[in-house]
Amino acid sequence: MSEAKKRAAEKALQYVEDGMIVGVGTGSTVAYFIDGLAQFRDRIQGAVSSSEQSTARLRAHGIEVLDLNNAGTLALYVDGADECDPHKRLIKGGGAALTREKIIAEASKVFVCIVDPSKRVPILGKFPLPVEVIPMARSLVAREILRMTGGQPVWRDGVVTDNGNWILDIHNLSIVDPVTVERELNQIPGVVSVGLFARRPADVVIVGGEPPTVL
Ligand code: A5P
Repeated sequence: MSEAKKRAAEKALQYVEDGMIVGVGTGSTVAYFIDGLAQFRDRIQGAVSSSEQSTARLRAHGIEVLDLNNAGTLALYVDGADECDPHKRLIKGGGAALTREKIIAEASKVFVCIVDPSKRVPILGKFPLPVEVIPMARSLVAREILRMTGGQPVWRDGVVTDNGNWILDIHNLSIVDPVTVERELNQIPGVVSVGLFARRPADVVIVGGEPPTVL
């Protein structure tokens, strides 16, 4: 699997151009991308990072990490996913970085998603859907999720996001209308963000087969 992740990440380097500020996601696939991005260190302006984990790796390679507030619209965002459907809609947040990932995806012109072949699914939802919540609202949000979706929310006990919040993972969902589910879950007070990337899906998906496929 890690070879497939590496192949997808290396293919994504083709989207990096001189002078860019590159949005960088989080996870084991993106770690390969960051390692490859190091060779562009002196040709790009820098990176906007989606997590403390990615920030540390970027800095270890001498890549400047910039504040999104000073970066404007980004030309490119590269990130992994936990699931990807045929419409390039995604489940993300297995690494608990979904909120910053979603912000950067929204701020980017082109979102390139890099995955190994196991991440491709016909319908999203086999992977438990992560939802970032304000801690005091955990039980309230869990009850609402159960009522609205019938899925089983499970608290990712012990995990605190980079934003100081908690994660609920919704099990047993089959998400046939991801745009609606994303919108409705986002309405629950206490929800910070939902790990469905349907309203703003990926623009390009690179599957790290041999050779990699660009969807
Ligand atoms: C991080 O919160 C996630 O959105 C990751 O993008 C996702 O979990 C993919 O991770 P891997 O690249 O490690 O499979």
